Amino acid sequence: ELRVESRPFASYGSALHIALPQAPRAGQLLTLLIDYEAGEGPGVCWLSPEQTAGKQKPYMYTQGQAVLNRSFFPCFDTPSVKFTYSATVKVPKGFTAVMSAMTWEKQKDNTFVFKMSQPIPSYLIALVVGDIVSADVGPRSRVWAEPCLIEAAKKEYDGVIEEFLVVGEKLFGPYVWGRYDILFMPPSFPFGGMENPCLTFVTPCLLAGDRSLVDVIIHEISHSWFGNLVTNATWGEFWLNEGFTMYAQRRISTEVYGLPYTCLEAATGRALLRQHMDATGEDHPLNKLRVVIEPGLWGVNPDDTYNETPYEKGYCFVSYLAHLVGNQSKFDAFLQAYVNRFKFQSITADDTLGFFLEYFPELKEKGVDSIPGFEFDRWLNTPGWPPYLPDLSPGQQLMRPADELAELWAADGLNMEAIEAVDITGWRTYQLVYFLDQVLQKSPLPEGNVKRLSTMYPKISKAQNAELRLRWCQIILKNNLEAEYSKVKDFLHSQGKQKYTLPLYRAMWGGSEATRALAMETFSATAPQLHVNVQNYVKKILGLGGAE
Ligand code: BES
Ligand code: ZN
Repeated sequence: ELRVESRPFASYGSALHIALPQAPRAGQLLTLLIDYEAGEGPGVCWLSPEQTAGKQKPYMYTQGQAVLNRSFFPCFDTPSVKFTYSATVKVPKGFTAVMSAMTWEKQKDNTFVFKMSQPIPSYLIALVVGDIVSADVGPRSRVWAEPCLIEAAKKEYDGVIEEFLVVGEKLFGPYVWGRYDILFMPPSFPFGGMENPCLTFVTPCLLAGDRSLVDVIIHEISHSWFGNLVTNATWGEFWLNEGFTMYAQRRISTEVYGLPYTCLEAATGRALLRQHMDATGEDHPLNKLRVVIEPGLWGVNPDDTYNETPYEKGYCFVSYLAHLVGNQSKFDAFLQAYVNRFKFQSITADDTLGFFLEYFPELKEKGVDSIPGFEFDRWLNTPGWPPYLPDLSPGQQLMRPADELAELWAADGLNMEAIEAVDITGWRTYQLVYFLDQVLQKSPLPEGNVKRLSTMYPKISKAQNAELRLRWCQIILKNNLEAEYSKVKDFLHSQGKQKYTLPLYRAMWGGSEATRALAMETFSATAPQLHVNVQNYVKKILGLGGAE
């Protein structure tokens, strides 16, 4: 028996100190057996039957990223430490357990045994226990969901996953995780997707019926190389995970769906970055790629780095590196060499950029790391809009009609003849998303226009697709379209994704008396269903003293 003590560390956890009988030698192997109970705390989420799709049985899931798994099991909860794991999980009768593991086996007594034989950081360990079933959708892939959703889940992704994996392997090297399965989570899951190795967790909002939100799956698959193999050593350099993953996602998307469509999707990403920087101010310290995370009670919580900057500014920086190289296949080869060089390790941006300059000595010679205005140091340490934006003009053929239509709808005295001449029935979801982002940017529109737009396009105003619903709700709020406020409420009741929830509460709180009341009313009804992190962020927006 050893003396253990819990000491204060930060608002997001405490430190477990274990006194050893004698000081260990460097390299000495220690075995510690820790007997503990967990259950409270933000890492483990317990849902009542009403919070599931089937509404019959309870459900539990864990979400580790960024620093929540410390409330699930004692660990070195930093992405700089990697380890293998195994787990034996006993569950009540009628429940199934799944984990982010390479092998699993059901034994007698409702006991499941899991093994992850590749080293991973603590945040990638994940567990779900629920009434869930699976269906095959590819040679190394199946979908998991509650029984009432399994048909829809299978239909959404049957036969499409393998191609993404094959293209990913061609671009970035071997897929080392064995299986790639997808688990559809209950509606309150706070993310679009979470790249738990072997078993991506996704929001049920992806069940759009038309595969239109498959970019999320391509994104999570891309983490198989960027994030899960090569990992950011600290959460202050989260862009190494997400910026490279956005780049990899769009490379796969380009191979599968072509450049115009991928540029259109990237343009919607750029609009999100614009909105984020407008909302927070370009100079906000979180709008740097390298964020300073001091330990201690008053530092930045690593979870606060989850915003558009590491994703889309990170994407711009990786695109800038590709632009410096000037040749796509050379840059693809670099990415593959990078993964191979740093696989199973945790690294910093200095490692990445050092390797880049080593791999391209002629660029190093030219001093590309210190071109005025584009210094690598500026990219990393100066907040604000990216100094370089990749060219998205190949998407113009898809964006131009949407731009023009948004112009028409923003005019005083609508030119209905011109508007009716545009047929949007064949538009892809992301074209509509792009159109709505343009309308939102131009909002508030002249009195009456949005009401007219709503009746003209039921495909938009009555959409079931979550990406469309989010934008439509934002437009409703920015234009004070009171007649449709109930749609905002319904959308917030139907799901709890952080990236949908926070922008809508920000818009409501920044609006009129009526929208503020709507925010309060909606939050008091839905709060218990939201992930505790999301709850705290909403409280902060509403001035209810949430996350500091
Ligand atoms: N790893 C993230 C989700 C995450 C980030 C969880 C930070 C906790 C802390 C995941 O890969 C992700 O980026 N999901 C996106 C998908 C999108 C960019 C296609 C999401 O949830 O919106
Ligand atoms: Zn990601």
